[in-house]
Amino acid sequence: MNVSNVIVTGAAQGIGKAVAVTLAADPTMSLLLADIQSDKVAEVAAELGATSTQVDIASPESCQDMVQVAVDRLGGLDAVVQVAGLDAPAGTAKDTHPDLWRRVIDIDLSGPWWVAKSAVDHMVQHGGGRIVIVSSVSAHVPSDGTTPAYNAAKAGLHGLVVAMAHQLEGDGILVNAIAPGATGTGQPLTNDERTMLEEIFPLGLGGPQPVADMASFLLGPGGDWVSGAIFNVSGGMHKGR
Ligand SMILES: NC(=O)c1ccc[n+]([C@@H]2O[C@H](COP(=O)([O-])OP(=O)(O)OC[C@H]3O[C@@H](n4cnc5c(N)ncnc54)[C@H](O)[C@@H]3O)[C@@H](O)[C@H]2O)c1
Repeated sequence: MNVSNVIVTGAAQGIGKAVAVTLAADPTMSLLLADIQSDKVAEVAAELGATSTQVDIASPESCQDMVQVAVDRLGGLDAVVQVAGLDAPAGTAKDTHPDLWRRVIDIDLSGPWWVAKSAVDHMVQHGGGRIVIVSSVSAHVPSDGTTPAYNAAKAGLHGLVVAMAHQLEGDGILVNAIAPGATGTGQPLTNDERTMLEEIFPLGLGGPQPVADMASFLLGPGGDWVSGAIFNVSGGMHKGR
């Protein structure tokens, strides 16, 4: 299918903004950029000649409204790139408060589900579409200072992707995930952390662009025969899954 009407969530900054900039370079694309930071995402949209809306991905109603805005302002919806989320919130197995657990699961696991579900409700009526969910290698890689709720949420997204892909291919809806390694966006890196990452990534610290390029690939003809896949985009650091 030709993908032209696309929602990018989390587009105010970081990986989502890189996805928006990359897709906007294709003149056939019409983009709705969505984020909880409405002013900031409106600025990005203005720079790119795109349109924008506020969304809280933790709210199913807000996600449904976002899809309706895409239908009204773009004239339809072919794909969603779901990037919005909390990046690696601080915490440990010993000190994660119930409120932090619920907030991370609400935004990093339930949020992508509400976004995808709202898109699917439209796509099943309109000949299919594509859903790309940004997860993380944290689905299977532990870290010292990030709450386990984050790893659990990201692992949950991989289950979500294989289940949705299996059940929706017959409706022409292709669902995939991109699992990035550290991109240097989101939680700020200290200079020491950045130096360490530049040294330990076999292919160097790539930033958000390789993730954006993978999203672009999955929306293009290269994605026509790809469904239920988890793409490890981690500069060679994490191998085999
Ligand atoms: N930064 C990394 O190294 C890295 C690595 C792997 C995966 N990821 C994942 O990629 C995604 C984006 O990370 P990033 O580095 O761009 O982070 P970021 O903090 O720079 O951007 C996240 C964006 O999501 C938006 N957002 C947060 N909560 C929201 C909500 N409830 N509703 C709508 N928008 C909301 C923020 O406003 C922000 O614009 C996250 O899911 C993160 O877990 C990041």
